[in-house]
Amino acid sequence: MMKKYCVKIFGCQMNYADAERVVSVLKSMGWQHVENLDKADAVFLLTCSVRKKAEDKAFGLLHNLKKWKAKKSGRKVGLTGCMVRETSSQASVKKDALLRKSGVLDFVWRIEDSTELPKLLDFSIPTIFQTRDFFSIKPMRQNPTQVFVPIMTGCNNFCSYCIVPYTRGREISRSEKEILAECKEAVENGAIEITLLGQNVNSYQKTRGAFAKLLAKVTRIPNLKRLRFVSSHPKDFDESVIDMMAEHTNIERHLHLPAQHGDDEILQKMNRGYTTADYLKLLEKFRKKLPEASITTDLIVGFPGESEKNFKNLLNFYRTADFDFAFFSKYSSRPNTTAAKLPDDVDSKLKTKRWHRLNKLMLATAAKKNAKLKNKTLEVLVEKANCHSLEKRDLEKDKRCILEGRSSEFFLVKFEGNENLVGKIVNVKITQPREVELWGEIN
Ligand code: SAM
Ligand code: SF4
Ligand code: F3S
Repeated sequence: MMKKYCVKIFGCQMNYADAERVVSVLKSMGWQHVENLDKADAVFLLTCSVRKKAEDKAFGLLHNLKKWKAKKSGRKVGLTGCMVRETSSQASVKKDALLRKSGVLDFVWRIEDSTELPKLLDFSIPTIFQTRDFFSIKPMRQNPTQVFVPIMTGCNNFCSYCIVPYTRGREISRSEKEILAECKEAVENGAIEITLLGQNVNSYQKTRGAFAKLLAKVTRIPNLKRLRFVSSHPKDFDESVIDMMAEHTNIERHLHLPAQHGDDEILQKMNRGYTTADYLKLLEKFRKKLPEASITTDLIVGFPGESEKNFKNLLNFYRTADFDFAFFSKYSSRPNTTAAKLPDDVDSKLKTKRWHRLNKLMLATAAKKNAKLKNKTLEVLVEKANCHSLEKRDLEKDKRCILEGRSSEFFLVKFEGNENLVGKIVNVKITQPREVELWGEIN
């Protein structure tokens, strides 16, 4: 009988992209995906380690899976992603620490060992996976309209707070040929938008200008409407990418440039390799050539030793940078990182307080900026439809859907419309700009 599985994904887009290759291996073995855990013979977790909370979530799920596993014999639990250090099973001589710690896991595997999955599940390896190259696995797209294509793995930056270089290893760039082939195939299969993924896309092939060249080649793929990329590192982001964006209108008008902090003393302790002045100069150059583009960032509050003065500098930096949106996290000490050797001395209540102060500033800044978008028309790629029936008796007739999607600037736009618009680009006139979302109507 055909085996059934569930996949639980935590963490960033990299994990969502990796899951498409894991699912592809399972499909090649004849396994079938199910949403309902009760119907599954196996559960696979793709985990994240970036903050302790992310790991706690995975441990919480593993705990709940104990009962699920006990209900039916032969059920299996496997885990991959950033929490794994060593591919191993309960039968291995050497076991990953997670296998020893958790009473429910049957095996764990490093994501790059995904071609080993059939072996771990006790199946003979199908011929197509006789290679160990993770990227030779053809991804099974979750959403063929919006596709994520990894251009590199790992990271060499060793920001002092970050676990990623330890979990994902050293930075390795995929070849241009391989990336272009994957992008071309995605567009031929209906992709409207491609996002190129990497922890530091600007250091692609460790050569200045190489990423801009790659961008230029991807933009030329016939019928590709939208191209995005994340994440950019301020120390490596340069004018070649700005010029490329200005030149090619199918590169979206959005830059995600994680600053992480707005105080020079903290930035140095974070080992980020730039100052606030360097960062702001970059923004100036970018805005000069692309005034219509939006800029978003990532910021961490409560890094070890962060004083009220350091934090006020962060608030001032935020005001000067005039970001369109930002993702904030409270510092979480991660094992083996350099910052883990420093005392985690910003009290958790104070971290929360600072998070809220920063969030308040973000919302006020966004509201002010978004107000200027009133009556403007934006091109929105519709991602989702939330449909409610006004009249339960006549579901089809009175169905009212709220559609949502992203504009070129990555603004979240919501409006009323037919659900068959999902996966299409539509013009939406903004009627009610709010803090984090823009409401509008089809134009
Ligand atoms: N490579 C990207 C960069 O350089 O910005 C993103 C890396 S990380 C996967 C995503 C975000 O998690 C980071 O931008 C950072 O804000 C946050 N992060 C990483 N380590 C953290 C930690 N120890 N505590 C809190 N937030 C953290
Ligand atoms: Fe982590 Fe820094 Fe690498 Fe981003 S650049 S993944 S924050 S070490
Ligand atoms: Fe992503 Fe989390 Fe790993 S943010 S790279 S899944 S540690």
